[in-house]
Amino acid sequence: MRYFGNNIKLLVNNLVVSYTDHGSEQSPVIIFIHGFPLNKTMWDNQVNALKEDYRVISYDIRGHGESDIGTDDFSIELFVTDLLHLMEELKIEKASLCGLSMGGYIALLAIEKYPERFDALVLCDTNCIADPPQVKQKRLDTIQQIKSFGVERYVNNSIENLFAPQSFSGNIPAISDVKEMILNTTELSLSKTLLALSQRKETCSKLSEITLPVHFVVGEEDKITPPKAAEVMQQKIKNSTMHIISHAGHLSNLESPDEFNEQLKTFFAAVYNKPEDMHSPGSTSVFSQIRQRLNMLLTFSSI
Ligand code: MLT
Repeated sequence: MRYFGNNIKLLVNNLVVSYTDHGSEQSPVIIFIHGFPLNKTMWDNQVNALKEDYRVISYDIRGHGESDIGTDDFSIELFVTDLLHLMEELKIEKASLCGLSMGGYIALLAIEKYPERFDALVLCDTNCIADPPQVKQKRLDTIQQIKSFGVERYVNNSIENLFAPQSFSGNIPAISDVKEMILNTTELSLSKTLLALSQRKETCSKLSEITLPVHFVVGEEDKITPPKAAEVMQQKIKNSTMHIISHAGHLSNLESPDEFNEQLKTFFAAVYNKPEDMHSPGSTSVFSQIRQRLNMLLTFSSI
């Protein structure tokens, strides 16, 4: 039996996981994976925009939002296992993934390990590299700082890097939403996830093996995973396109939701409108169609 709506609780990989599930059973499935240290509500706008045409799922990674933290050490590998278990529990054989930042790290590893389970991929404000030594050290320092000074100070320090200056000057509601999401993440979960991020392996060396359609979306002013990183990744994936959102930082879906949603709609319409091509995702016809549609969109949006 399938449950619809927000905040559904399900036992996944021995853990209570909270997820949302909207849209028709017959529609193609898109699973949204959030960034750190946020939760599934960061995708609410995209879920609403796509649920008429797709079955849209967003879920809380363990230790985030309403999902339990469990007792295991965190790792990107464990997050991928959780994702696959969630798909099993929901009886989803194949899906597309849309992951932002940490969500992108998870999506990339999932596609590397289980390519047959996925149709297409949207990578937002993310990267494929492992942490360089100074970033690893910074994460370990942050764990200590959170222990000493608490989550509130961490929120104020980290928020600066997440948004573009324009988002601060426009005082967009997403800023307070994001602050709340971080404040609602426990100190233990922040520390466990920071450690997992610092220990993650690179996925860059496998990018050239990806044959699925991939679309990159990145904020022009993303300081954490800048457009240059997306460009380098995009060049390694044969069937890929990229769109840069002006005046957006690391949380491009929250900073420019309309432009972001147009990207998703155009990409997924091209991926799923030709069912005969979906089983050969590397096929140029699907991909030239995606490119054509995205180019059209870019032309119109720059007029
Ligand atoms: C995220 O948004 O998920 C984080 O910025 C990822 C990271 O710190 O590497």
